[in-house]
Parts: sequence; structure tokens; C-alpha cells
Amino acid sequence: MSLTIAIDGPAASGKGTIARALAERLGYRYLDTGLLYRAVGRRTLQGMDPLEAAEALTAAEVADADALRAPDVAQAASRVAAMPEVRAALVDFQRAFARRMGGAVLDGRDIGTVICPDADVKLFVTASDVVRAERRFRELSGKGHAVTLAAVAADLAERDRRDAARATAPLTAAPDAVRIDTSTMTIETAVETALAVVGDALRRT
Ligand code: DC
Repeated sequence: MSLTIAIDGPAASGKGTIARALAERLGYRYLDTGLLYRAVGRRTLQGMDPLEAAEALTAAEVADADALRAPDVAQAASRVAAMPEVRAALVDFQRAFARRMGGAVLDGRDIGTVICPDADVKLFVTASDVVRAERRFRELSGKGHAVTLAAVAADLAERDRRDAARATAPLTAAPDAVRIDTSTMTIETAVETALAVVGDALRRT
């Protein structure tokens, strides 16, 4: 039995780390849906119309993950993600990914609520603002980006506010999502906690 696993949560909550680890442990495919919005956002920074960019999005552009990690691209992603027509243009790609044979893990902001409302497992991953800012600061400075902790914290706060306040598919937990607060967890504990939820779902099916 292969499951569809939906993981949502704010930036730097640990959802990507958990999603990747689950996919690896279970032998499932993994889609980081934030990369779709980041790829569209990056195109708009180059002057392209957001809807045109969403409609023309290719898998190769999304695979170029390193170029999509920059803070200005993250902000541009959050801005285009508030446009209903951009979101609509990206729905089929995500649903088709979830439907393919074998299990799938998708992470983002609206996977359990909009993209895969029938997912077998839904997780909503959170962490405190301070912990998330520290994690993202370490990640970005480790990759050579010239950032400060204060700037990273402000960037996350602005994106969270925009992502949660938008009218279409805002960042919110599905009513049936299991919440995991990773603030004081090691990566191993967070992954084991998520795996236990998946184990329960596998026993039920
Ligand atoms: O997960 P991330 O930080 O890479 O996502 C970048 C932005 O894309 C985020 O600020 C909001 C948007 N996004 C979204 O609206 N819906 C998703 N499913 C994934 C990301």
C-alpha cells in the first residue's frame, strides 16, 4: 500500500527535512512545491509576467534548486503565490505528481487543504519564530549568502504574514492534520515522530 503524504507549514519549520527523510525511508517520490513558486518568482525578478512564467514552467527550472534558494527569490515566490491565477496554473502539475504510481510526499502551504485534500497522511509542521530564523540563517550563511539573523527573521515574518493572510489557499493546517512542533526536536526525533504517524496510517489501510 503506497500513501500520499501532505506536509504543510511555515518557512524553515523543518517540513522539507521531514518530507525528504520520509520519502527516502519509504521509497516514495518527493516534490518540494515551494520550488514551483520560487521558479515563477525568479522569472518575475527577470521581468517576466507571473502568469506567463507559471504557465511556461518546466521541470528543469524547478530542478535548479540552488538558484532558487536566494532570499530575494523567496520573497518573489511569496508574492506570486498570492495570485490566484498563478496558483491555478500550478495545480495540475502538483496533482499529477501526487497521482503517479507509488507513494508520494509533497510539502508546501496548501497541500493538505487544496492540492491533496484526500491525502492519506497530513502533517502540519511548526517551530517557534526564533528557532526558524536561526535555522534559516545558518542554512543561508552556510551557502555563502551575506545575511544577518535580524534580516532573515524579518524576511520570514513578512512571508509568513503574506502566506497566511492571502485569500486563496492561505497557509493553514487542514482540520485533520497532525501537528508536529519541531522547536526542541532533533532532526531524528522529528522524523521518527512523522514516521510514527505514517505507521498508524499504514496499519489502518
Ligand atoms: O516552502 P518555500 O519557503 O520554499 O516557499 C516559498 C514561497 O512559496 C512561500 O513563501 C509561499 C509559497 N508557497 C505557496 O504559496 N504554496 C506552496 N504549496 C508552497 C510554497
